[in-house]
Amino acid sequence: MEVIIRDTPETGCLLAAKIIARVVREKPDAVLGLATGRTPLMLYRELIRLHREEGLDFSRITTFNLDEYVGLPATHDQSYRWFMREHLFQHINIDQKNTHVPDGTAADMHVECRSYEQRILDAGGIDIQLLGLGRNGHIGFNEPTGSLRSRTWIKILSEQTLQDNSAVFGSLEEMPKHALTMGIGTILDARRVLLLAFGPAKVRAVEHMIEGPLAAICPGSALQLHPRATVILDENSAAGLRYADHYRWIDKNKFDWQRHK
Ligand code: GLP
Repeated sequence: MEVIIRDTPETGCLLAAKIIARVVREKPDAVLGLATGRTPLMLYRELIRLHREEGLDFSRITTFNLDEYVGLPATHDQSYRWFMREHLFQHINIDQKNTHVPDGTAADMHVECRSYEQRILDAGGIDIQLLGLGRNGHIGFNEPTGSLRSRTWIKILSEQTLQDNSAVFGSLEEMPKHALTMGIGTILDARRVLLLAFGPAKVRAVEHMIEGPLAAICPGSALQLHPRATVILDENSAAGLRYADHYRWIDKNKFDWQRHK
């Protein structure tokens, strides 16, 4: 796992945007795995700026989002489809029909989940999967104790996640209790993964993900199995890491030093 610690979420997001922009430039028909939540907002803003000011071209890009709430139509302002349109898709030159988000209103969820996996395969697999990290260590909506080899499926949201995400729904009652999410196995199939975690609330999850044992109780720890996983932290989220100086040393002395320039 490549661990990069930046001063602030802002500098972390700028680096993440550089990494994604580089994938888009090198492979104009790349397949991007995208995430929602507060964490990637600045990264999306930077991608929009790169599109507007530097002509970053998304016209041949395909995207697959990690997850969606069950029961929320695309017209609901808390649906992840809405989020992506609002914060990225409507501001760049992506072809909307190449943007995929699981359909939380599908008549048959099992069929939808299987078809989502198939659509990823048909697109040639995901080149780079962006991830956030839940306070309880979840990735996508893969909550603690879910199988580390799971595929896209319906997941029950944990109490912690309901608490963390219910404010925007007004009340806990209005928040969906289920979500469709790429499985951990699906995420690990991406050719590269890029996880962002910022702020003091993520300290414990970050610690377990990077330095704890590989365990279903912290789904993020599954990234330890990935041959090309990059984790970008800020000083706050990295505060609990035992080997922070080691990661800084590696980052500073990278042989392949041009990679993130
Ligand atoms: C949400 C999403 C995740 C996200 C995580 C962290 O519930 N399903 O994909 O990474 O929780 O959210 P935030 O970035 O707002 O802290």
